[in-house]
Amino acid sequence: MKLKVFVGRPVFEEVLDSLRQHFEVTDNQADVLFTPEELTRKLQGQAGAITTGTERIDAALLAACPQLKVVANMAVGFNNFDVPAMTAAAVQATNTPDVLTETTADFGFALLMATARRLTESEHFLRAGKWTKWRYDMFAGAEVHGSTLGIMGMGRIGQGIARRAAHGFGMQVIYHNRSRLSPDLEAQCKARYVSKPELLQTADHVMLVVPYSADSHHTIGAAELAQMKSTATLVNIARGGIVDDAALAQALKDRRIAGAGLDVFEGEPQVHPELLTLQNVVLTPHIASATVKTRMAMAQLAADNLIAYLIRGQALTPLNTVQVQA
Ligand code: GLV
Repeated sequence: MKLKVFVGRPVFEEVLDSLRQHFEVTDNQADVLFTPEELTRKLQGQAGAITTGTERIDAALLAACPQLKVVANMAVGFNNFDVPAMTAAAVQATNTPDVLTETTADFGFALLMATARRLTESEHFLRAGKWTKWRYDMFAGAEVHGSTLGIMGMGRIGQGIARRAAHGFGMQVIYHNRSRLSPDLEAQCKARYVSKPELLQTADHVMLVVPYSADSHHTIGAAELAQMKSTATLVNIARGGIVDDAALAQALKDRRIAGAGLDVFEGEPQVHPELLTLQNVVLTPHIASATVKTRMAMAQLAADNLIAYLIRGQALTPLNTVQVQA
């Protein structure tokens, strides 16, 4: 008899087909958004599940789903998982690292360019029929090439952004991270380690790529925004909650900093209402990894993790070590 797996959100049909070769699959191609209670009921009797960042896997759910053996997150971030609770319940957790690194770094750079060069603001102006003449200072933004980029969080995606900045745009790259990169990696990224205050005070553009945790909550709040240059831009492709969005909206309104590019938000898909009213912010709906090729690779890696763990006993990209009861 085939084991049962649940795919919590819509995915590519090819990915469902690969799962159907091994499992009895319940999909959610209709994209119903389940409450935590509904998700718990859906997962009862399932051996495996694919989730995205919107489905929370915690101790209460795990206690109600004793047959669950593995949950594969279709994301590199996994702050929707209580990993210690999963380990305690002997549930394997996996994510999708590597396959999205370069695509996400591309998007971070796109958001930086769009913000510094006021791309969406100027497009809205044109579409509104307000473009009647050329002016020397019309949508004059901040320089990107040759400027200083401060990267907070120097994992794989941060390093991808650093390489683009240093090698492609001749930027000075400074970074702050929990741990310093090896001298080899620092040389490859042409990046210099600095303290958080030095980064905030020196960078022309600040890029956030830190994982979300209780420790990184509001890494950027009013106090940090006050340290940044008034000409600086801030880009958040990390997670909602890394930035205090209310403080950021106030800083943008007061022109405390020049602009922000945001792909993630506190409480998304809700967006702080003040941010929606401001011109000097570029807003995108959490799409940094969204190319067809990368989303396919992420979905397939999540499915392959279920297959690898449930059929062969070894996940491909595990987040925890699970003691399997004999
Ligand atoms: C997207 O936000 C991810 O974590 O992959």
